[in-house]
Amino acid sequence: MAPRKIIIDTDPGQDDAFAILFALGSPGELEVVGITTVGGNVPLALTSKNALKVVELAGRPDVPVYAGCPAPMVRKLITAEYVHGETGLDGADLPEPVTPLQGEHAVNYLVRTIMDAPEGELTVCTLGPMTNLAMAMTMEPKIIHRLREVVLMGGGFFQGGNATPAAEFNIFVDPHAAHKVFDSGVPVTMAGIDCTYTALMTPEWLDALRATGSRAAIEAANMADFYRQYGTHKFATAARPIHDACVTGYLLAPGIYEQRQCAVTVDIVSPETIGMTVVDWWHVTGRRKNCNVLRRIDPAPFFALMLERISALP
Ligand code: RIB
Ligand code: CA
Repeated sequence: MAPRKIIIDTDPGQDDAFAILFALGSPGELEVVGITTVGGNVPLALTSKNALKVVELAGRPDVPVYAGCPAPMVRKLITAEYVHGETGLDGADLPEPVTPLQGEHAVNYLVRTIMDAPEGELTVCTLGPMTNLAMAMTMEPKIIHRLREVVLMGGGFFQGGNATPAAEFNIFVDPHAAHKVFDSGVPVTMAGIDCTYTALMTPEWLDALRATGSRAAIEAANMADFYRQYGTHKFATAARPIHDACVTGYLLAPGIYEQRQCAVTVDIVSPETIGMTVVDWWHVTGRRKNCNVLRRIDPAPFFALMLERISALP
């Protein structure tokens, strides 16, 4: 079977880097046709540079990277250097990229590529605020029904939020974009923090990854060692959720996830809960079940597969 064609929209971010490396290490199943970047964990100039660093680390400078929106649709950008470091990829020792960004804006790239592709062929994987995809849907609504699926890292329900008590970071940064995507009618699969908090990367797993010896594996482990420092004081555990990689894991092994089709809405009005993904887990509203909600992952096969694929890179 031909590899599934995906576009990764991202704000690297160490966990974004893992998701991208995991995908590029799986060429038999996934074809990354392009990467689009957005302001999120760090400002757009850095997320774009980091995306170039990651494709070069993977030995795949042929994967085109398009810079997108520097800020959310309505609100001001909120960044997360406190987690990811000033560069957004602290912990890794990667050279300045020599590969140039593409000249086309990411939103124009998304519209053009989705309109040119056969209907139902492309999946967009969003790993940061969904500004680019929402802007593309606004620019050309026809792309909504041409997409196969949107698989996103964002949101949560049973675990509440990680940016506020109610909202997860990606949705909180641009709740209006998320609202547009969830409400658009495109098939959505959501890897929220309910799911990603069960994908806990341990120091032992990182040591095993590093021991495989490939440069990509070593640099990935090094950036993860930086990334997991933040959580150690917050969660009193050395094991940290590798959030964005859960999107790639779903594309490769959907059967290792507990999942349920639910109605999901995004709060864009309440000051206390703006950015909350309201998951109708027990179907009490009777609303359209617009989202496949990933609730839990089986960590053993997930981490075994991710180690295998990242260590297959140069
Ligand atoms: O809440 C986790 C999400 O926010 C991840 O995508 C991480 O990279 C940050 O963007
Ligand atoms: Ca991210």
